Amino acid sequence: MSTSSPAATTPFPTPTLYAAERGLTLENVALADIATDFGTPTYVYSRAALTAAFESWRNALGGRGLVCYAVKANSNLGILSVFARLGAGFDIVSGGELARVLAAGGDAGKVVFSGVGKSRDEMRQALEAGIRCFNIESAAELDRLDAVAGELGRKAPIALRVNPDVDPKTHPYISTGLKSNKFGVAFGEALALYRRAASLPNLKVSGIACHIGSQLLDPAPVAEAAAKVLELVDQLAADGITLEHIDLGGGLGIRYRDETPPSVAEYLAPLLKVFEGRNEELCFEPGRSLVGNAGLLLTRVEYLKHGEEKNFAIVDAAMNDLARPALYDAYHEAVAVTPAGVAAQCYEIVGPICESGDFLAHDRQLALREGDLVALLSAGAYGMTMSSNYNTRPRAAEVIVDGDRVLLVRERETVAALYAGERRIDD
Ligand code: LLP
Repeated sequence: MSTSSPAATTPFPTPTLYAAERGLTLENVALADIATDFGTPTYVYSRAALTAAFESWRNALGGRGLVCYAVKANSNLGILSVFARLGAGFDIVSGGELARVLAAGGDAGKVVFSGVGKSRDEMRQALEAGIRCFNIESAAELDRLDAVAGELGRKAPIALRVNPDVDPKTHPYISTGLKSNKFGVAFGEALALYRRAASLPNLKVSGIACHIGSQLLDPAPVAEAAAKVLELVDQLAADGITLEHIDLGGGLGIRYRDETPPSVAEYLAPLLKVFEGRNEELCFEPGRSLVGNAGLLLTRVEYLKHGEEKNFAIVDAAMNDLARPALYDAYHEAVAVTPAGVAAQCYEIVGPICESGDFLAHDRQLALREGDLVALLSAGAYGMTMSSNYNTRPRAAEVIVDGDRVLLVRERETVAALYAGERRIDD
């Protein structure tokens, strides 16, 4: 049982271990017992792994800045409350995420609000809560925030999210720092926009933000972006606009298969070097690296189907529960929870949804029988938050394992709840 070193550098994603007789375990709990008690599919997270991942960020930063967990990676209140208790800040992208953070006991004063499309209502909600900073992505958003803050008689703290135009070398869907992306303010326009922000009566220029992409395995592009950001900060200072904080976004990748991501310390080292001797507070918005390898999706084999060309293990989880394989062709390790005394075969692991895109894993060598459990590892980030009800499938339950305890942090949805807000037409 490896509760001690579940960080991104462990050789096997997600801190699971086989225990004799009990099959795969997470902390001190057998996954088979979780399936019996809570059913399947169920997302299972390790509190020790969440804590260790947060501590590795905090230790590597060494008091030099604030870790704002990117809520979009996993917004369950149980997860948010674990991070809130550890003193985390939060990076949100909607009023809904803000409501979750507050319901989980998070500190509004440590919340940064990212995203290109903030509505007036969301701005009002965030101003009333007293968040730490709005990361602004356009001139129009700047004007709108100034107006909304004026109506409320408040000053809105802002940072401009700049687009440094560096290639993060990751999947195109999750690369955000190129000129061609919709994100951020072009570098060339930033200076003028900062001047405008400084002149607006209801804004307080507080910082600068930048986020270049996700699942980054090489720290170099982030350091390159940071150096560009610093040039701008110095230009601004020369212009009389002093910034208090620099937010370098999220993005640190994790091991899903055989990737070798830098540790948090290795990722931060070149950045901290760039910022040596400076006074601004640093801020980061990690999502995946805090939760990705702290969670797995537990599913049960409904049928084994041996086709002419392929063998299929049809499980009770599907693309609606874990969209990443269908959406990004992402790899998640698939592990038999209680290895069967049958020969391993090569399986396509697929769900019950009526689409060929409904796969969770390709070509996996597994020893399986009908009714066996399979764990899809590294599913703590962008798993449950990207799930849907496609095919009127109630979303999975979620539990957090904490030593010997299993805490239900989200009940399995019921079918009745899925259409509770819908109406028949009877005439
Ligand atoms: N900050 C901003 C402004 C972001 O857009 C994101 C992620 C993060 C922080 C957190 O990045 P992380 O540390 O998790 O890499 N659904 C995709 C990932 C989308 C990421 C979107 N933005 C996936 O499943 O791989």
